[in-house]
Amino acid sequence: MQDHKNKIDPNSEVETTGHQWDDDEGYPLKEFNNPLPKWWLYTFYATIIWAIVYWVLYPAWPLPNGNTEGMLGWTQKKQLAEEIRVAKEAQKPFDNKLASLSLEEINKDNSLLQYAISGGKAIFGDNCAPCHGSGGVGSKAHGFPTLVDDDWIFGGTLADINETVQNGRTGAMPAHLESADGAFTQAQVNDLAEYVLSISNQSHDAVKAGRGDTLFHGEASCNACHGDNGRGSLKDTFDGERLDKATGAPNLTDAVWLYGGSRETITQTIARGRTGKMPAWGEGFEGFGRQLDPLSIKQVVLYVHSLGGGQ
Ligand code: HEC
Ligand code: HEC
Repeated sequence: MQDHKNKIDPNSEVETTGHQWDDDEGYPLKEFNNPLPKWWLYTFYATIIWAIVYWVLYPAWPLPNGNTEGMLGWTQKKQLAEEIRVAKEAQKPFDNKLASLSLEEINKDNSLLQYAISGGKAIFGDNCAPCHGSGGVGSKAHGFPTLVDDDWIFGGTLADINETVQNGRTGAMPAHLESADGAFTQAQVNDLAEYVLSISNQSHDAVKAGRGDTLFHGEASCNACHGDNGRGSLKDTFDGERLDKATGAPNLTDAVWLYGGSRETITQTIARGRTGKMPAWGEGFEGFGRQLDPLSIKQVVLYVHSLGGGQ
């Protein structure tokens, strides 16, 4: 800097480190040894004391076999456990209410329903999503039905869904091709597939479909499970009688497929059969290697019911 007045008098008494540089104008440049400001020094000592107190009270130093534990016995795990306990405590009144009310009653109480659904969503993610996909979108490649539409196989009322989740479901679609232990030739299986294509409004060979129609309602008695109009065991009738919806024979006339609606997949389904299995989650069952407690089942049933297709 140019301003020499800012330079300190060479004779001043300020303590120096002994280093000194002379400049051309006779003002020696000295390195002062100013004491640190008091506020800084005390803060510095305070942090050292703080650190030592912290080491003594809390887990701090890594050791070969863990770490120093601290006199308070505090750990992050214990803190988490405590926070979970407090959160659970806060949920208790809701859980008690859920436990005491029926599915229909909860469904009518909006704030309770929202609580149940948010719990059900997490339970679904942990237990059901591996098969039904996150959000319940399903997977045709594996015959895991979508749960987000209003096209149900076993039924979409709260009671139906509850029964599905508690007891599980098995769909038994028999094999029809001779070589797969069925009673029909490949040509007959092809005719049946052509008929299914026709009732689901897809392009088909009308002659083959005509023969398939006769088989469907006759020798093969597909209508005993899928109904006289092929609309499935949930909605259709057989000889004027309502079908047992627990059969789980899907509607073959719509665009929603469990395994797939292409000529190839339909032919394969009819030839080899299918046995989709929905594990049971209720007490006493070992469906998927685990069970859900009654409260969790209630929540997941309400969640599935809320996905869009609940009836
Ligand atoms: C191991 C795979 C798997 C798991 C896990 C699974 N499901 Fe399923 N689920 C299926 C299959 C397969 C079906 C169809 C059964 C059939 O084809 O007859 C099904 C059917 C259903 C249905 C009937 C759909 C309808 O249209 O009627 C509901 C509801 C359902 N599951 C809910 C759940 C819930 C809730 C969970 C979790 C608690 C769950 N599933 C876990 C495989 C699974
Ligand atoms: C004993 C009852 C029963 C009979 C008889 C039966 N089905 Fe099925 N069918 C089912 C069931 C149950 C399913 C679902 C299988 C599953 O859940 O894995 C099914 C599934 C299907 C599917 C797959 C639908 C989809 O969404 O992917 C087709 C196609 C089909 N059946 C056609 C036929 C035809 C054609 C016949 C006669 C040759 C027939 N079924 C006879 C019970 C039956």
